[in-house]
Amino acid sequence: MWRGGIFRRSRPEPLDFSPLVLDFHSHLVPGVDDGAPDLETALAMVDGLISLGYRGAVTTPHIYPGVYPNSAAGLQLAFAPLLSAVNKRHPGFALHLAAEYQIDDDFVRSVEAGEEILAHNKLVLVEVGFHAAPPDGLLEEAFFALQKRDFTPVLAHVERYPYWHRQLNVLGDLEARGVILQVNAASLAGAYGPEVQAAGTAALSAGIVGLVGSDAHGPRHISALESLQNSGASAVADWLSTAQQAHLLGA
Ligand SMILES: [Fe+2]
Repeated sequence: MWRGGIFRRSRPEPLDFSPLVLDFHSHLVPGVDDGAPDLETALAMVDGLISLGYRGAVTTPHIYPGVYPNSAAGLQLAFAPLLSAVNKRHPGFALHLAAEYQIDDDFVRSVEAGEEILAHNKLVLVEVGFHAAPPDGLLEEAFFALQKRDFTPVLAHVERYPYWHRQLNVLGDLEARGVILQVNAASLAGAYGPEVQAAGTAALSAGIVGLVGSDAHGPRHISALESLQNSGASAVADWLSTAQQAHLLGA
C-alpha cells in the first residue's frame, strides 16, 4: 500500500562540523569592536558554537587604527574576564585570543619593528578594505614581513572582496605563496547575497581554502552557521571531508 510522502523532498543530513574542531575568526571579546557588546552575548555565542560541535575557538577582535584602535595589551586585558567566565561555564572549551589586523602601512611597520602580534599557532589573521583593492605591493610587503618573523598570514573572508570576484587566480597566487585563505560560513550560507556565496563556493571547490570560520559578530552569525550545517551543500561537504583546519590550528 502506498503510504505517501516518498516523493517529498527529504531534509539533507546535517553536515558534520567535527573536522573543524576550533572556530578561527570571531568577535567574542565584549565591547572592543563591532562584535559582542557584552559578556552575556559573548557567552550565548559560545553556547551556540558548542551546540554546533566546536571544541574551542580562536577569537579575533579587530585591530584597525582609527576605527578600532585596539592594542595587543588592551585586548589581553579585555579577554581575561571572558576567558574566566567561559572556563567556569564550559571547562572543556578551549578559548584562545588572536586578532584580525587591518593591513596598512602602520601594520607593516609594526610587524617589521618586532612589536607583539596576536597570533594562534603562528597564524595571523589579516583583512583589507572591501571597497577598493589594496595599493600595489602592500599585501606582498605585509605577507613578507609576517613570514620573515615566521608567522603564517591568514587572509580573512576572501570571498567578500568584490574586486576579486571572478579573479580566483589572484587568490590562488596568494595561496601558492603560503597565505592561508579563510572563508566565512555565513557567506557560504548565502547571508551576504548570491555573488559572495558563489565566490566562497568557487574558492572552496578550487581547493585553495584552508579555514572556514564563523566571523561571528553576534548570535546572527551562529544562526548562519546552523543554516550552513543544515544546508547539505555538497561543496561544503566535500571540503569538510578533506579539511586541514584542525591541523593548521594545531588542535
Ligand atoms: Fe572579522
